[in-house]
Amino acid sequence: MKQQLESIRQAAMAALENAATPADLEELRVKLLGKKGELTAVLKQMGKLSAEERPVMGQLANNVRAAIEEKLEQRKTAVHAAVLEAKLAAESIDVTIPGDEIEIGHQHPMNQVLQQIKDIFVGLGYQVVEGPEVELADYNFTRLNIEEGHPSRDRSDTFYFTDDDSVLLRTQTSPMQIRVMENAKPPICILAPGRVFRKDEADATHSPMFHQIEGLVVDENITMGDLKGALISCMRKIYGEDAVMRFRPHHFPFTEPSCEMDMQCHKCHGTGEIDGAVCSTCHGEGWIELLGAGMVHPAVLENCGIDSTKYSGFAFGMGLERMAMGRLKITDLRLIFDNDVRFLNQF
Ligand code: DAH
Repeated sequence: MKQQLESIRQAAMAALENAATPADLEELRVKLLGKKGELTAVLKQMGKLSAEERPVMGQLANNVRAAIEEKLEQRKTAVHAAVLEAKLAAESIDVTIPGDEIEIGHQHPMNQVLQQIKDIFVGLGYQVVEGPEVELADYNFTRLNIEEGHPSRDRSDTFYFTDDDSVLLRTQTSPMQIRVMENAKPPICILAPGRVFRKDEADATHSPMFHQIEGLVVDENITMGDLKGALISCMRKIYGEDAVMRFRPHHFPFTEPSCEMDMQCHKCHGTGEIDGAVCSTCHGEGWIELLGAGMVHPAVLENCGIDSTKYSGFAFGMGLERMAMGRLKITDLRLIFDNDVRFLNQF
């Protein structure tokens, strides 16, 4: 038995010395000292010993146990320190290594232009309002003085929801004029940006969905001069103080008189050509059409319960994509909707 105990002690010391992890140590503790461990197994044979041998072996067994326990503690401390050191080494951070650049997004260029236009008009005292994209034909056409049979009402141009053509996807933001005027009394001064829909094939200058920004001012003594002042100051803020604008007579059913506003081409400065070739920005026109506008038709005011003998107003509607294309100097509308980050990152 003495030999057994000695060999347990020796084997234990060697094994403990080689244990490298806390799990190894725990395994050894159970194997050596546990209820079913080696030492316990030897001690169970104590009964077979003589009365003289028993205390001697008991003493020896206790020594072996104490030695193993001590070694175990010692190794635990050492292994723990080693594990900690390895962990610290593995997790150490070299603060001198340059960091990874985190890419943060930014507003879509369309939104940037929209925000700029909104800021300009809010600065002029306009209130920004929004309305439904699914609209009544009554608001989109009839009360805007657009007669039955007008080409823009055609089913090949407009998305209708109902067989009687009474509900549609708005084709313009102008119905917001009606929605505002039927609910508010002058003075009215609003800006209504939003999506509009038309049955157009997508190409460089068309999309079945695009954005308009409608403006409406109604009060006593509003004149065409107010309209021109507001629009020219807006465009100069966007395109620069030296931008050249012109107003051209036009026709819209909901304004009288009506006009379109053009900006002189910033590329060819109105000549329509560059180095003898047709200017690609204005297609040789020398001018770029920016928006439609006019004095609100008296019939439209009356349709909303506003006395047209007392009040007058002006309205305008601009295409946001068109504004953005001019602003961002791009020639294909589809770039705006493709959302290719290589394109978007430039702005
Ligand atoms: N709604 C017109 C369109 O989509 C644009 C427009 C023209 C709006 C004249 C107006 C306006 O408010 O006065 O073509």
